[in-house]
Amino acid sequence: MTRKMLVTSALPYANAPIHIGHLVEYFQTDIWVRFQKAMGHECYYFCADDTHGTPIMIRAKSEGITPEELINRVQEEHVHDFAGFGIEFDNFYTTHSEENRQFSEMIYHRAHQRGSIIKKEIEQSYDEQEKMWLPDRYIKGTCPRCQSEDQYGDSCDSCGAHYQTTELIDPVSTVSGNTPVLKESMHYFFRLGDYEADLKKLFERGYVQQSVQNKLDEWFDAGLKDWDISRDGPYFGFKIPGEEEKYFYVWLDAPIGYMASCQNYCSQNGLDFDQFWNNEEFEIYHFIGKDIMYFHALFWPALLMSAGMRMPTQLFVHGFLTVNGKKMSKSKGTFIMASTYLKHLDPQYLRYYYASKLSGDVSDIELNTEDFVNRVNSDLVGKLANLASRSGPMLTKKLDGKLGTLDEKGRVLTGELVDAKSEIIGHYENLNYAAAIRKIAALADVCNKYVEAHQPWSTIKTDAEGTRTVLTAVLNAVKILAVYLKPVLPQYAEKIEQFLAVEPLTFADIEVVLENHTINNFVRLIERIEKEKVEAMVEESKQESTEPQAEVVEEKVELTEPLAAECEFDDFMKVDLRIAKVATASAVEGADKLLQLELDLGGVTKNVFAGISKAYKPEDLVGRLVLCVANLKPRKMRFGLSEGMVCAAGPGGEDIFLLSPDCGAKSGQRVH
Ligand code: MSP
Ligand code: ZN
Repeated sequence: MTRKMLVTSALPYANAPIHIGHLVEYFQTDIWVRFQKAMGHECYYFCADDTHGTPIMIRAKSEGITPEELINRVQEEHVHDFAGFGIEFDNFYTTHSEENRQFSEMIYHRAHQRGSIIKKEIEQSYDEQEKMWLPDRYIKGTCPRCQSEDQYGDSCDSCGAHYQTTELIDPVSTVSGNTPVLKESMHYFFRLGDYEADLKKLFERGYVQQSVQNKLDEWFDAGLKDWDISRDGPYFGFKIPGEEEKYFYVWLDAPIGYMASCQNYCSQNGLDFDQFWNNEEFEIYHFIGKDIMYFHALFWPALLMSAGMRMPTQLFVHGFLTVNGKKMSKSKGTFIMASTYLKHLDPQYLRYYYASKLSGDVSDIELNTEDFVNRVNSDLVGKLANLASRSGPMLTKKLDGKLGTLDEKGRVLTGELVDAKSEIIGHYENLNYAAAIRKIAALADVCNKYVEAHQPWSTIKTDAEGTRTVLTAVLNAVKILAVYLKPVLPQYAEKIEQFLAVEPLTFADIEVVLENHTINNFVRLIERIEKEKVEAMVEESKQESTEPQAEVVEEKVELTEPLAAECEFDDFMKVDLRIAKVATASAVEGADKLLQLELDLGGVTKNVFAGISKAYKPEDLVGRLVLCVANLKPRKMRFGLSEGMVCAAGPGGEDIFLLSPDCGAKSGQRVH
């Protein structure tokens, strides 16, 4: 059955170049789209530049150009970088477009009619010299908690505190250097809470991955707040209908940009938008990074609900890139721009490497530069490309480039590769590219062993036809592996198609056997990575003038929980933290998260209920040490008296972690 699918990646901000962190997402999406197309599905990949907001306005001003000039220039750069990495959008548009304005106004009107938009007076920081309102990131000052200087208006990098801009000591506007003043202004708010029940239903239908679900539960527990969707001018964005100096907040029109890009594609191709976006036959998928989950898991579907529009099918959230174990850093030269990478290295290396790391969950993706060189050279060049380069030229040079037929052994070999088809398809479909790559590399090992066992380089001298039979099997294997790799490495697959003299390969070609077929001269597929080139790229990145992303980014939702209010030392000393041994553990009937534990505190036994049953089985806990609050006042619960509390870390659900079993502590010890 042919599926119909619309796929999007998050829209990159139009004030900064694409870097290797962004590429995690654009590769992840591009590979999936290419896979779906290779499966014969009708799949479209839409994206755009995210062009509105304060940072873009300020950036343009500092460059002495208009925002329109800035976003046009950056769009060209983005398009160029994406093409350089083989990312193939069906349409890459802009949020600063008529289509986007119309959709934004329409959705706003519909939400308004439903009573989901309200007005409130709020107090905000204002720069009187620049005559502009200041987002938190444009105010710096001294942290009210730890007294570190030069901290942002919303949080402190030094102690991690989160606070209101008004709490900052000696605040200054980073735009003018003056002290901001507080002014009142009327803002429009979207009543997110109105959609809580419908959002929960959406999640029950599997809109997000399980690991994202835990974060959502926290947000629901904290309560859904009204969302401020307006900004006062001067602002670069769409004016709110009926208002003179008020604009839609960039995050209102940004996701609507997905639709605008689709609409623009339809207009250009004489298609009907309603047959696309508003057609339930189409599945809609959004790929995003974990930092913008709140917007896509809550605001976006709620906005669509308010407008009576259809829901996206699924949201795929990925983690962040770390390089050599750390966040990308300009001083270490690991804040690498896409354009800098392309000056030094083949884009296919990075596509292959990220694919080998992406498994479809929210964990971070680690680029270790040494492992990158080794893995590409050993697997991609050493195993995969080598299989083709040791068999193709021999056939063209010594055997007229003509394939023979498969013998029994050849059928067994290619049969093993064909048999992996449904497994590999499953891995791609589930975004587990790492598993797909592992399987493909293992199959390449099997093929290389086949070549070694048959030694075509020596049999060619004595048995031309026998050698032709062996090479026929190997080149059929090369073809199958090329299909499997094609979503990740389209250029590589194209070169194989060219030298095997076949039409563009799809998954339908897996079972097609090439026999009695003449191939073309071999073309080099891929070169080894030289370590020196990676070093040169890192060196050049240290010199780049581009500011780290944090400086220019619009406000984002923090994933770490804000710190609780300060606690006096004396209060802390009241807490008796002890190591305890779990004497017994059992499930609690009627409470699916709770376990009942008997804790041995070295003589004293306490009965405690702990919400950890999703993460630990009772039988695995007996005998284990845990950290507990031993002097918590006993509390009567529905299931009995709880006489303490067990300490654990993690977001909840299956991800809850107790003390390590080999922590070396003794039961009854006090923790200081
Ligand atoms: N403009 C918003 C998205 C609006 S979508 C309606 C934005 N732009 S961004 O340029 O900052 O990021 C674009 C995408 O790249 C986001 O999904 C983000 O999570 C992802 N990444 C940006 N930096 C990243 C890493 N360092 N690592 C992995 N993904 C990263 O957010
Ligand atoms: Zn601080």
